[in-house]
Amino acid sequence: MNRREFLAASSAVALAGVAAPFPALADVPKPYDWNAYPPMNTRENYIAWMVENRGEDPYYLGQHWDRYVVLVANRDLLDDRNKRAFLLVPREEFVLERNLSRAYEHAFLDIGYGVTISGPHLVGRMTTSLDVQFGEKVLEIGTGSGYQSAYLSNLTDKVWTIEIIAPLAARTRSVYDGLIARGYNEYTAISSKQADGYYGWEEAGPFDKIIVTCGIDHIPPPLLQQLRVGGTIVIPVGPPGAHHVLKVLKEQAADGSIRVSRTDIYDGRIVPFVPFTKLEGDQIVGDHNN
Ligand SMILES: C[S@@+](CC[C@H](N)C(=O)[O-])C[C@H]1O[C@@H](n2cnc3c(N)ncnc32)[C@H](O)[C@@H]1O
Repeated sequence: MNRREFLAASSAVALAGVAAPFPALADVPKPYDWNAYPPMNTRENYIAWMVENRGEDPYYLGQHWDRYVVLVANRDLLDDRNKRAFLLVPREEFVLERNLSRAYEHAFLDIGYGVTISGPHLVGRMTTSLDVQFGEKVLEIGTGSGYQSAYLSNLTDKVWTIEIIAPLAARTRSVYDGLIARGYNEYTAISSKQADGYYGWEEAGPFDKIIVTCGIDHIPPPLLQQLRVGGTIVIPVGPPGAHHVLKVLKEQAADGSIRVSRTDIYDGRIVPFVPFTKLEGDQIVGDHNN
């Protein structure tokens, strides 16, 4: 049974309570359209539009909508472009099979290799704070499950992402490739590689926006350097287990000097992240904290 069949079977079991025959789900039936917005007014309209345009399963679409409503109420999604991006990414494609029934829960989930897919509220708030405009170049440090970059690829057509754990980077690349083959053409915007993201992706830069999804006690100088003047980094900064998610702006003052300003997107609340680890040769050894 492939992933697509497994998703359909698991929703059939959840709905009927038994392993009933499940309908074959179509691949994405309509080409990706940057101007197309799913309905944001009712659950029924959203599900109907997504089935017609994206060929997704009503079982997961219902959960997707219910989580969306909570994100909006919580002010994690503030603008229509981010609402659209959240509504278009099938989170169930990025979690482990054993966590399918939890794909739309608030919490982060294990994705293997000792790391996690961040919870939907955190992804929504961090990405909304990044304020990505169409055409901007965005770098993500910490590909993990691939969900964050999938979301970014619904905001801009230029996304780069780096993952340090080699087998995870390979697994997530094959998730993207599988989804692209099924018609999720927006994910062709994502370039990925396995490396230590502390050093950024110099050949691809400079970037308009950078998002970091692992925690560190300082802002990596190579990332600030690869950020365009006027650009933004959203990054968890602090000691292990006690990070503050900062929005960092790189600006040029009237005298030409470069200034960096920081604001806390959670007004001081602590949000723990997995560590920003370090590569020595091809081994992960410790982290990049000072
Ligand atoms: C919270 S997890 C993944 C979140 C991810 N954005 C997602 O949507 O699933 C953070 C990721 O950062 C990765 N990571 C940690 N240190 C790294 C480094 N130096 N370079 C690149 N990735 C790193 C971890 O291996 C992990 O996959």
